[in-house]
Amino acid sequence: MKHEIGITQPSYLIEDWPGKYDVFSWLEYVITVPNPIFLVTTRKANGAANANLHAWGFLVGERDHYSSLLALLNHTHTYTNILREGEWCLNYPSVKLLPQCSETIACNGPDNDEITDAGLTIEPAQTVQAPRIAECAINVECKLAWHRPLYADSQWHLFVGRVQHVAMDEAAMVVTPEQRIENLELMYNVRGTINPLNGDYYGPNTLGLLNKVLRITPDEPGINQS
Ligand SMILES: Cc1cc2nc3c(=O)[nH]c(=O)nc-3n(C[C@H](O)[C@H](O)[C@H](O)COP(=O)(O)O)c2cc1C
Repeated sequence: MKHEIGITQPSYLIEDWPGKYDVFSWLEYVITVPNPIFLVTTRKANGAANANLHAWGFLVGERDHYSSLLALLNHTHTYTNILREGEWCLNYPSVKLLPQCSETIACNGPDNDEITDAGLTIEPAQTVQAPRIAECAINVECKLAWHRPLYADSQWHLFVGRVQHVAMDEAAMVVTPEQRIENLELMYNVRGTINPLNGDYYGPNTLGLLNKVLRITPDEPGINQS
């Protein structure tokens, strides 16, 4: 049975941390369609590497306008760094790098090298000054095209940057879709879930693994799937 859900937050919803439904709409925890996780890397004002573990963003665009869209909180270092330098890299980590990914949040200082401090390795980018993360199988270099607040007085800010260059590990180039997705071991951010009808909830965020491909069309002759 389908229920119709209005946008007004029910009074019986309990925040399991203060400000939760201020930073994130309560509907995020109702809809819970997960987003793939990646790291946004930029340069700090002193040139040190900055890393931001990220889920609200995606790649979109046609021809030579392929673009990265990011939704960033306006108090993050990444927000300030992109406004100052107009550049960033996307780095797609495998689930094996989850401890290091979490560490980028723990070592989020104003001046330190967050990539090295989190146990990861800096790799120079080809077209931007923002650093890449060597351990990530896919790196995407981007230059800022436009930005704006999500709404007037929103704490969320949208950035769109044109893709300039891509680096990919050979393991991420295998043409068989099942194998490529298995090799990448990408993570999804799965929100804590709430039942909007009665306020029952599971508080902590959890994690999904993008590891299963279902073929919906028959194999076509001539496609190399080795
Ligand atoms: C799974 C996960 C996903 C996140 N997604 C985002 C996001 O999409 N946008 C954002 O601004 N912060 C996001 N964060 C929070 C940032 O990673 C965190 O605030 C980080 O320390 C900011 O780094 P910075 O100040 O160096 O930019 C996320 C955190 C986690 C654990």
